[in-house]
Amino acid sequence: MNDRFLSTQALEDEQSLEGSLRPQRLDEYIGQARMKESLRICIEAATRRGEALDHAIFYGPPGLGKTTISHIIAHEMGGSIRSTSGLVLAHAGDLAAILANLQPRDVLFIDEIHRLPPSVEEALYPAMEDFQIDLVIGQGPSMRTMKLDLPPFTLIGATTRAGSLTSPLRERFGLVYRLDFYSAEELQLIVTRSSGLLGVEIEPGAAAEIAGRSRGTPRIANRLIKRARDFAEVKAQGVLTREVARDALTWLGIDDAGFDEMDRKILLTIIEKFKGGPVGVEAIAAAVQEEKVTLEDVYEPFLIQSGYLDRTARGRQVTTRALDHFGKSGGLFSQPL
Ligand code: ADE
Repeated sequence: MNDRFLSTQALEDEQSLEGSLRPQRLDEYIGQARMKESLRICIEAATRRGEALDHAIFYGPPGLGKTTISHIIAHEMGGSIRSTSGLVLAHAGDLAAILANLQPRDVLFIDEIHRLPPSVEEALYPAMEDFQIDLVIGQGPSMRTMKLDLPPFTLIGATTRAGSLTSPLRERFGLVYRLDFYSAEELQLIVTRSSGLLGVEIEPGAAAEIAGRSRGTPRIANRLIKRARDFAEVKAQGVLTREVARDALTWLGIDDAGFDEMDRKILLTIIEKFKGGPVGVEAIAAAVQEEKVTLEDVYEPFLIQSGYLDRTARGRQVTTRALDHFGKSGGLFSQPL
């Protein structure tokens, strides 16, 4: 398969599927226990006071539920969610138009908030702090600014790169949460729940198999269920047994560590071309023909957290675990790692 099956980017036809599988309430949301508990308290306190929830930022690798939790917050607060992205908000006027239409306790969700142009980011500050926005009216000598009052709302920002936020923006968020990779047990619950919603007949062993190879990421788990269901319908009368799930995953090019082609390419490139590292991320990006930021934000977090890759001061280095996985232990390094 040439496409990146385990891509964590939400594909277009998938957004509606994600929407239908997305939990609506905090109680239905699986995993991220500390974040959930903190949000539960803050939401209840804000609701009792009749206020909007404090502005919140969610950061972490793609596919872990930043959008999902934002929808849940809007729902729990009894408001609506307006979604936009740092990539499409080009002018302060675009932001003003969205803000002016919010109702009290609505959520404004800005995906990839680290990509906001500086002029839009600056326009956000008074909106976040004082629920006011400065409108610029007219041009040249007749130009005036006017303050527009906004309803109390919650800004939710999502980013894969918390480090790329400017400090004035970061400091204006009262709530900051990092989303972690999900455990295999949590993913198994998600796989079982999603299969039920999709009407897929799945055995617990198959759910465990899919969960264990989803790179800690619900978006990937949900995508694998769909493909495994296709495979089961054509090859196995529709029932997803562990055996069928295993065959489906092999057919998809996903190995027992949950690696797809790109993961293998990255690790094998470091092992074979760069003697296991350390090697700079730019050199890896050039060798595997992928953008540096994509390597850093999408691929590396899982490889690092699961112990296959180390980030050192001198660059990236594979671990003995990675060497073992590819049967490359022994003989590669002149010095022990
Ligand atoms: N679907 C995707 N992410 C989920 C989560 N965290 N809990 C329940 N269902 C999900």
